[in-house]
Amino acid sequence: MKYEIVNLGKNDENYIHQIAQFLYRCFQKNAPEWLPDLESCKQEVHKSFQSNRRSRVLIDSDGVALGWVGAITDENLWEIHPIAVAPSQQGNGYGLALVTDIVELARIGGAVAIWAGTSDETGATSFSAIDLIKNPASALENFRAPRDHPVSFWSKTGFSLVGVMPDEEGLGNPGIHFAMRL
Ligand SMILES: CC(C)(COP(=O)(O)OP(=O)(O)OC[C@H]1O[C@@H](n2cnc3c(N)ncnc32)[C@H](O)[C@@H]1OP(=O)(O)O)[C@@H](O)C(=O)NCCC(=O)NCCS
Repeated sequence: MKYEIVNLGKNDENYIHQIAQFLYRCFQKNAPEWLPDLESCKQEVHKSFQSNRRSRVLIDSDGVALGWVGAITDENLWEIHPIAVAPSQQGNGYGLALVTDIVELARIGGAVAIWAGTSDETGATSFSAIDLIKNPASALENFRAPRDHPVSFWSKTGFSLVGVMPDEEGLGNPGIHFAMRL
């Protein structure tokens, strides 16, 4: 399918509405507490218009928003946050296309590396079974996650597992960090 990835701005109300709708459905499984309703999803999209951020939307030839990626920029290191593809459109390479797009923007912007975080808020990965404060090295070495967890997406798009932050998303809910050198 033909598509393009373009800047998203605060006046793109139609796209913002479409993105908020699929954002809500996207995060219900792995991070249900983070975006509990449509209003919080709209607020999340609006955060991406802050001056230190980038916001990119993937639209098809009919003008339908299929995916969205945001980035928090900094001098050396950019963070991809968040990324989502409409559930009915997942598995078609759009997520990879959005990552490739934002990686290129980071490179042009002079960053030397880019990172992305996901989390385990449902006990899905091996990190939830270990005291990460006591055993971070062995937790990283023996890390396991279900095949359909977003950690697989980051591995497949060229990112390396570089760290885990205990309790980043609340007690017992670690943040899982991936990075790529540009
Ligand atoms: C993660 C997400 C953005 C990926 O988008 P997508 O368009 O489905 O990804 P792609 O089709 O470009 O897939 C690229 C590769 O990653 C794999 N992949 C994608 N999503 C995956 C997932 N959730 N679990 C496991 N593997 C995944 C694909 O199988 C593909 O690998 P392959 O080339 O070996 O087939 C999308 O699934 C999504 O929006 N998920 C819900 C929100 C989310 O979890 N965001 C990331 C939070 S950190």
